[in-house]
Amino acid sequence: MTKTLGALLDDFGEFHAWLVQSQTSLWVLHAVSRTRLLDHLGDAPAPIETLAEKTGLKSDMLRRVMTFLASQEVVYMDAEGRVAHTARSRAFHARQDAVRWLNVNFPAGLKFEEALRTGVASFEHHYGQPLFDYLSERPDIAEEFGRLMSSITSAIEAFIFSEHQFKPFARAVDIGGSHGQLMTRLLTEYPSAKGVIFDLPGTAAHARKALASSPLKDRIEIIGGDFFKAVPDGGDLYLMKQILHDWGDEECVAILKNIRAAIVPNGRLAVIDFLLPEKPAPHPGYALDINMLCLLTGGRERKLSEFETLFARSGFALDRVTENPRGQSLIEAVPV
Ligand SMILES: C[S@@+](CC[C@H](N)C(=O)[O-])C[C@H]1O[C@@H](n2cnc3c(N)ncnc32)[C@H](O)[C@@H]1O
Repeated sequence: MTKTLGALLDDFGEFHAWLVQSQTSLWVLHAVSRTRLLDHLGDAPAPIETLAEKTGLKSDMLRRVMTFLASQEVVYMDAEGRVAHTARSRAFHARQDAVRWLNVNFPAGLKFEEALRTGVASFEHHYGQPLFDYLSERPDIAEEFGRLMSSITSAIEAFIFSEHQFKPFARAVDIGGSHGQLMTRLLTEYPSAKGVIFDLPGTAAHARKALASSPLKDRIEIIGGDFFKAVPDGGDLYLMKQILHDWGDEECVAILKNIRAAIVPNGRLAVIDFLLPEKPAPHPGYALDINMLCLLTGGRERKLSEFETLFARSGFALDRVTENPRGQSLIEAVPV
């Protein structure tokens, strides 16, 4: 968003155009992703009828959708109305999990009012159970969620590995490490280290599948478990990317204490999460904070001072921060 919501509201016409444009773009990209439409697009322009045949979609409607996407400079449409991939549609195709998950996430957001009235996440109002319980019972959706997390993680890897220098480590443990996107990149950058991916048993099974043909698989151990009970011990670097933001303070302290019990004395903890400014100012973390309010009871983005309090309550002390004003920051703590 180039303008803040406040600036858009200065002009109702501009605000309404933004509303229709954003809503429509989400609907279209979501449908494109769920129908796997872009799987069938090539570099050479193809008639809409061919695409309709391959996807089983109605050609007249498909033509309007592709015209919209061409008008938005996503796909290419020639003078005869034939369509082809562009570099942008290929890039979106590779990351379409970002919107594939909207059909789960979006309806929950419509229960936002109930969350505000009760303090219980919208997700629970809509689905009757917390997000990770819901995912544990639905492996296909959980796998989709894991792929989404991998896409989000890959988008900030450039920042992590160019701006932050990890201190030497031998055994890294990624707590809530999902399908192993971060661990794979970490071990590529640090070729003498080994790694452990720790996540719920269902997600650990998906990680095994995702990494089955990885050249790094012999350096990675994948362990299923519950971080509220215990985490794998003996690591000298514990990573937690977008984990603390899923939980309220008490749950965060419980997870951190389990890491404190497992970490070697000179180990380090690297938390990767948004750092909210101390005073309100335009920052991408605020939108995710509201997202967390919808998704998980207690989930929230935090300021640095709030992380320091969590660390102090669980036997850690803040050591250093690599701040990212545009995305997640890296916050390192050490055991005390
Ligand atoms: C928001 S995702 C972050 C995934 C990954 N760290 C990343 O940033 O791509 C949260 C992760 O925590 C895992 N998780 C949730 N509850 C857990 C628990 N009780 N024990 C272990 N992992 C859990 C989820 O399965 C999920 O992979």
